[in-house]
Amino acid sequence: MTTRTSTGSEPGADTSVPVGGAVGRPVDRRDGHAKVTGAVRFSAEHHYPNLTYATLVHATVARGTITGIDTAAAAAVPGVVAVLTHRNAPRIKPPRKLNIVRNLGPDVSGTDVDYLNTDQVFWDGQPIAVVVAETSAAANEAASLVEVTYDRLPVRVDFAAEQKNATPAKGDPFSFAGVKKKGDAEAALAAAEVSVDLRYTTPGLQHNAIEPHATVAVWEGDHLTVHDTTQSIHQTGHYLAWRFGVPASHVRVRAEFLGGGFGGKFAVWPGTVIAAMAAKAVGRPVRLALSRTAVSRATGGRTASTNRIALGATRDGRLTSLIQDSITRTGSVGGLLEATTSPARHLYGAENMLTRQNLVPMDLVPNTWLRAPGEAIGSFVLESALDELAYELSMDPIDLRLRNEPATDPTDGKKFSQRMQREAFERGAERFGWADRNPEPRSMRDGEWLVGMGTATAYHPTLRLVADVKVRLSDDGSALVQCGFHEMGMGAATVQAQIAADALGIAYEKVRVEYGDSALPSGPMAGNSNQTATVATSLLAACAELTRKVSALARRTGTTGQEPASALRAAGRPFIEASVGSDTRLGALGGQGRLLSNFLKDQRWSKAARGAQFCEVRVNADTGELRISRWLGMFDVGRIINPKTAASQLRGAVVMGIGMAMSEQSLIDPRNGRTMSAGLDSYYVPVHADIPPIDVDWLDEPDKTMPLGIIGLGEVGMTGVAAAIANAVYHATGKRIRDLPITLDKLL
Ligand code: MOS
Repeated sequence: MTTRTSTGSEPGADTSVPVGGAVGRPVDRRDGHAKVTGAVRFSAEHHYPNLTYATLVHATVARGTITGIDTAAAAAVPGVVAVLTHRNAPRIKPPRKLNIVRNLGPDVSGTDVDYLNTDQVFWDGQPIAVVVAETSAAANEAASLVEVTYDRLPVRVDFAAEQKNATPAKGDPFSFAGVKKKGDAEAALAAAEVSVDLRYTTPGLQHNAIEPHATVAVWEGDHLTVHDTTQSIHQTGHYLAWRFGVPASHVRVRAEFLGGGFGGKFAVWPGTVIAAMAAKAVGRPVRLALSRTAVSRATGGRTASTNRIALGATRDGRLTSLIQDSITRTGSVGGLLEATTSPARHLYGAENMLTRQNLVPMDLVPNTWLRAPGEAIGSFVLESALDELAYELSMDPIDLRLRNEPATDPTDGKKFSQRMQREAFERGAERFGWADRNPEPRSMRDGEWLVGMGTATAYHPTLRLVADVKVRLSDDGSALVQCGFHEMGMGAATVQAQIAADALGIAYEKVRVEYGDSALPSGPMAGNSNQTATVATSLLAACAELTRKVSALARRTGTTGQEPASALRAAGRPFIEASVGSDTRLGALGGQGRLLSNFLKDQRWSKAARGAQFCEVRVNADTGELRISRWLGMFDVGRIINPKTAASQLRGAVVMGIGMAMSEQSLIDPRNGRTMSAGLDSYYVPVHADIPPIDVDWLDEPDKTMPLGIIGLGEVGMTGVAAAIANAVYHATGKRIRDLPITLDKLL
């Protein structure tokens, strides 16, 4: 078995880590040097003899039936090996209907469309054919020549028009969403001394990871190997095995390196299934690398949202009523109930609360996870409204928040495992110089620039799934950690190596980590900011078990007190191993089958990553140009394993929040559902010039209910960002922007 191995000895690695002192050190990312020097191979870069190249053909109507599909011109292009449509593609097992509310893990597919086995079209952009050719140029050319006719059906593609058809989502078993009620929030709002009742909207967002989705699929008999851009190698493997009717052990999914995931690579999207189907059909390996346009058309992004948010308070700023009624969309063939009311349910101790999630199905590519799903939208809505209320009360927005700090979780009454919200605001305000802010809008100016300062609460729940981990100590003193987790660029392998080194009492450089391969012990999917704490839970248990075995051996061999490997040498044993969790039986669910053990244990607490975001903006008084001039995020994110990778994660998330606030929006043609922003020329992500130096720091207080005190921090950095910016824009200009993104036309 060849798997990607990371070692501490790559150029640039920090080689001065003392034994027992790896955790907490800013060691370099193990994969960093190889990535920036082009030494690693991403999914699309794996080469096989006889490799073919595939290109998708996308539907150009949003709803209908294919009545004709003419592939003659495509097939005649030199180098074309096959053109597969619903008429000639291999038949595979149809997917089961997705349950959108419960679609948290087992239903790993992004849609329930039976690609290339159906003549039905459910969104503009749905893949309806694939060309396989000797070169990608031939495949691309041929794909453009496929002629399709349709019987069209009426379409629901305009969110603004469709939202009147939204209906309340029923609560899911883990209460991520649904309707939550405490007291009589409407009556309390009507009776409140001071209140706001507002409407906020956010646009759909698209995934634009630096690495577009890609799959290389190789069949050998009834064994399938896929190199796939996935955040869920095990679930993807089980899904493909089921769809293609082969045992799960015959499918191997590899994703050693990802150029970002952000939730866009969690679900199985059409390219993965179609690549495996095409490889089967042509009897050769197939590479299907989506163009950025194809990513936008054939994989999901974030839902748009419309929100009513209402707050009632006493004159002295105690919340008496908190209402959020949120409308989001799904697809007709899948989608995610994005829990946009999550912050409203967990942040402030309002006496009366009502939150409701409403869903409307639309004929668009199903929406999916996109970094901090729920909280990214919800924190914009809630934290902007709190700022509005603070102005109504003539109260400092930080004081208003701190006055409503709850003693226990406001919705379910659970105790907080960790909560340093007050400290985050106090320390952040001090460092940012919040006291220098004149609260009067339009009161601070620097030449032609109006200057504003804004703040918002950051919040993202933390959870653990399960991981199977194997650890081996060899007689040369080195250790090998094996777990099929994911390295999307966040330093996942680096931090686990740090944890293992200290747990085993050996040098950091002596630890190798293997990951990103479903042939390894089953790891968790990389999502919901769970991975570090999940893997650490099993890794610590495996290291403890290994240490017990080594200690017993040391006693027998009289080597107690010496370095761990001396016992192995004295006993003449080349290595000793320990495994945790390898008894997983719920095959169809992969490693997630034992999700409930950690997950339910953690449900006793209200657990979350928290923080306080601070920003300073400059708005040009003449042109409306908006610039972010300063940023500080002060976070309550438990014990930090690696300050360098942690800071990068938090900064990167702030950047995504800035994109959400200032420029990103999915543009859908309201007549036909065509994505008009299917490329970086029309979908604007932040560039370097948009981003100021981003100061991030943390309180470094371990969560005593988590392994090593770890709280996941992959997503919290994005939350509160858009609100902090919108609040700063109001402070600078006196204009309250309630509809993202904050483009300059809205500031004139
Ligand atoms: Mo994330 S949206 O859980 O990759």
